Amino acid sequence: MARVLVTRRLPDGGLDPLAGAGHELILRVDDEPLTHAQLVRAAAEVDAIVCLLTDRVDRAVLEAGAGRLRVVANVAVGYDNVDVATAHELGIAVCNTPGVLDETTADLAFLLVLAASRLAHEAEADLRAGLWSEWGINQYLGRDVHGAVLGLVGYGRIGQAVARRATGFGMAVLHHTRNDTGVPGWTGDLDVLLAESDVVSLHVPLTDATRHLIGAPELARMRDTAVLVNTARGPVVDEEELAIALEEGTIFAAGIDVFEREPEIHPRLLAAPRTVLLPHIGSASTATRTRMAVVASEGARQVLAGEQPPNLVR
Ligand code: DGY
Repeated sequence: MARVLVTRRLPDGGLDPLAGAGHELILRVDDEPLTHAQLVRAAAEVDAIVCLLTDRVDRAVLEAGAGRLRVVANVAVGYDNVDVATAHELGIAVCNTPGVLDETTADLAFLLVLAASRLAHEAEADLRAGLWSEWGINQYLGRDVHGAVLGLVGYGRIGQAVARRATGFGMAVLHHTRNDTGVPGWTGDLDVLLAESDVVSLHVPLTDATRHLIGAPELARMRDTAVLVNTARGPVVDEEELAIALEEGTIFAAGIDVFEREPEIHPRLLAAPRTVLLPHIGSASTATRTRMAVVASEGARQVLAGEQPPNLVR
């Protein structure tokens, strides 16, 4: 039987596929993250690693495991924390969790669309601080979501799930991808989408091509009434430039669930007006996080059994 390192505590039942196959699970007693040095040491002594997006599985970890380590199963759909090229070079498979968190993440993206557009966070903060003394006709004037134009940057499963929600709100939906999807609303020109959208929602993976995809020039192309939502990966947006755009009112509001240097938040973004900030909870429902753990574990089990899991990263 194989030895499997599980870097953090997972939801109940999340390791059932591996446990059911009789593999030896190396579990954390506490829920402290492993240091990088600990992860490197541990990688040398296991056949599989089940890890989270907060674990940096880089060349050092993979080289330490090379020869024995057969699979890294990341309990996330995004895998920018894993050096996939090196893993493949060393013959180590990488699995992720596609398809099980789309609807939950789309729910949260839509929550941010609504909350940021309607200034819900600022209004609630005032109420809690005892600053709401009377109803006022000019208070907390947000932007209507119904009937607005939603621009999706990226049109994978999560982007499409957000589009379905938008239809219920009577929104027109544009989407930008490099290749024509053949779906109405497609544009290959990001600038066009930015200029024509009332709400821009990001749904691209983090790659060299998408790092700071939204920086000062792109923010400048957005309407001064527009709302930016990011539930993808923090570094897709230049946070400093976003904070400046919010301070200067060159965009209306932002709803952000992911950050450039999690868990650090750029102090200027923390202080920026009309901004809803959440601690990377896009997929955070009990059912979805459990399914993610099961899918990652099942992928690892299949690789260990010499099978080809459907969630293999290529
Ligand atoms: C992912 O899976 O990549 C999300 O960011 C966390 O659910």
